[in-house]
Amino acid sequence: MTQTNSEPVKFEKDTVLVIFGASGDLAKKETFPALFGLYSEGCLDPSTKIICYARSNVTVEQLKKSCLPYCRKSTTGNDEVKMKKFFNMVSYIQGQYDTDDGYIRLNDAIEDFEHERGVQEPHRVFYLAVPPSIFLTVASQVKKNVYAYNGITRVIVEKPFGDDLESSRELQKGFKPLFRAEEIYKIDHFLGKDDVRRLLTARFANPFLNQSWNKENIESVQVWFKEPFGAEGRGGFFDSTGIIRDVMQNHLLQILTLATMEEPVSNDADAIRDAKVELLKCMEPLGPKNVVAVGQYGKSVDGKKPSYLDDDTVLNKESKCLTFTELTFAIHNDRWEGVPIIMRAGKGLDEDRVEIRIQYKKNTSGMFEGCTPNQFVIHFHPEPTIFMTFNTKAPGFADKLHQIKLDMTYDQQYKKEWVPEAYECLIYDAFQGKYANYVRDDELDVSWSLFTPLLKYVEGPNAPQPEIYPYGSTGPKGILE
Ligand SMILES: NC(=O)c1ccc[n+]([C@@H]2O[C@H](COP(=O)([O-])OP(=O)(O)OC[C@H]3O[C@@H](n4cnc5c(N)ncnc54)[C@H](OP(=O)(O)O)[C@@H]3O)[C@@H](O)[C@H]2O)c1
Ligand SMILES: *[C@@H]1O[C@H](CO)[C@@H](O)[C@H](O)[C@H]1NC(C)=O
Ligand SMILES: *[C@@H]1O[C@H](CO)[C@@H](O)[C@H](O)[C@H]1NC(C)=O
Ligand SMILES: *[C@@H]1O[C@H](CO)[C@@H](O)[C@H](O)[C@H]1NC(C)=O
Repeated sequence: MTQTNSEPVKFEKDTVLVIFGASGDLAKKETFPALFGLYSEGCLDPSTKIICYARSNVTVEQLKKSCLPYCRKSTTGNDEVKMKKFFNMVSYIQGQYDTDDGYIRLNDAIEDFEHERGVQEPHRVFYLAVPPSIFLTVASQVKKNVYAYNGITRVIVEKPFGDDLESSRELQKGFKPLFRAEEIYKIDHFLGKDDVRRLLTARFANPFLNQSWNKENIESVQVWFKEPFGAEGRGGFFDSTGIIRDVMQNHLLQILTLATMEEPVSNDADAIRDAKVELLKCMEPLGPKNVVAVGQYGKSVDGKKPSYLDDDTVLNKESKCLTFTELTFAIHNDRWEGVPIIMRAGKGLDEDRVEIRIQYKKNTSGMFEGCTPNQFVIHFHPEPTIFMTFNTKAPGFADKLHQIKLDMTYDQQYKKEWVPEAYECLIYDAFQGKYANYVRDDELDVSWSLFTPLLKYVEGPNAPQPEIYPYGSTGPKGILE
């Protein structure tokens, strides 16, 4: 029997979702497409009310038009009709973030809706799709003016949760008096539930993998993030962020943690997060000794793509901002002592790929002494794929070894199935009050503790000089094999 995810779809009726900053980039590219995806696959109850809130003077019709190019086709067709019905659930309120007026109108709109539906216990979800500089402003106003005292309130917050340990703690401190821990959903959109489950299932539902997943058998663990484009048009944001803060401290560390942590004691959200925190505590804060290579992309070889510094949106023309970093470090526990962990991330590279690669050891004796060692690889992006390299005999008379791929590409295996994307899973979970795939504060704290010293070094007076690598290449020379 094949086990599928047959968890029944359970709805909370008459939920109100408020999207703050609904006029922005995130709402257009991710939030609306995800909500429409859930709706069209029957995973968002039609009784839901979606209220957009922002300062701009825009209409629902304009929001609909701008998100359209980012919406996926549904598996059952008839999307135009569905789109129309979906946007009938949406309304828009124009208001400021820092004064009561708009929030009072928002509260009136919510109460009118709840009253009309005869709602006894309100269920309100607030999505903060606004810049981090106003997270606390909006959060305080939500608490003051629109909090569901006699029902359920949930607040979804987007990364970044601070720029270092100190600012992250500052933000946590600001949220603390406003909401209980279980009311706050901090999104790390990189891993949807499907990705996380895929990794945990591979490791723990296949005992042979679990049993070889340790220092006795594994040579190294490698996490790779490769982006084929640079900071084009977003240099302002990127120059103050850098590749380490943008993807390594959060996304890549998440992948690594899930791939190396011990088996959680249960399927419970907090058991999984406990296992993650335990693992992170086995690592030492990162610093200069962990840096293998740092780089910044230059012009492409054909001269068509501009260097990082030539980008109009990068204002500091002497910026040492890293667009590439390779780190190596250790995990000090029984399972991993002595196994190098390699983490690499770069923009303006030759490929579009995010993966974790478990490199097995070479066999140093026996009949096939020295044959190519096995690898177990999970691609998260662009296509969910799991594969293993496997030694076999090449066809023909000669006794020749050949390494092949045992390949499980999701889209080929599950052609007809709707595989929810990261934001779809996350929003769905928040509606249901499931927080396993959201980031817990102690997790955030440990991850910033690990990366803050490294950030201080690469952004400080003795910052390493990045090696310039051509846009579209494999990155700086001297990166590990
Ligand atoms: N874009 C992405 O792909 C992405 C990915 C991951 C995380 N995020 C995070 O998601 C959040 C929203 O991102 P976004 O790209 O949508 O941001 P955005 O487009 O810059 O901002 C969203 C909306 O917030 C309002 N706003 C912008 N700057 C403001 C300011 N200085 N003061 C007050 N209001 C301001 C604007 O709406 P009005 O002027 O109409 O009020 C804007 O439409 C951020 O925390 C970001 O870090 C974004
Ligand atoms: C909003 O824009 C519409 C036209 O798109 C205009 O008629 C209306 O006066 C504007 N409202 C405000 C408050 O600026
Ligand atoms: C995985 O391996 C560990 C240690 O080798 C063991 O304690 C645990 O029971 C194993 N779990 C599964 C599901 O195989
Ligand atoms: C290599 O193979 C030999 C025998 O074929 C076996 O005893 C040994 O454990 C193997 N080593 C590894 C690292 O798999």
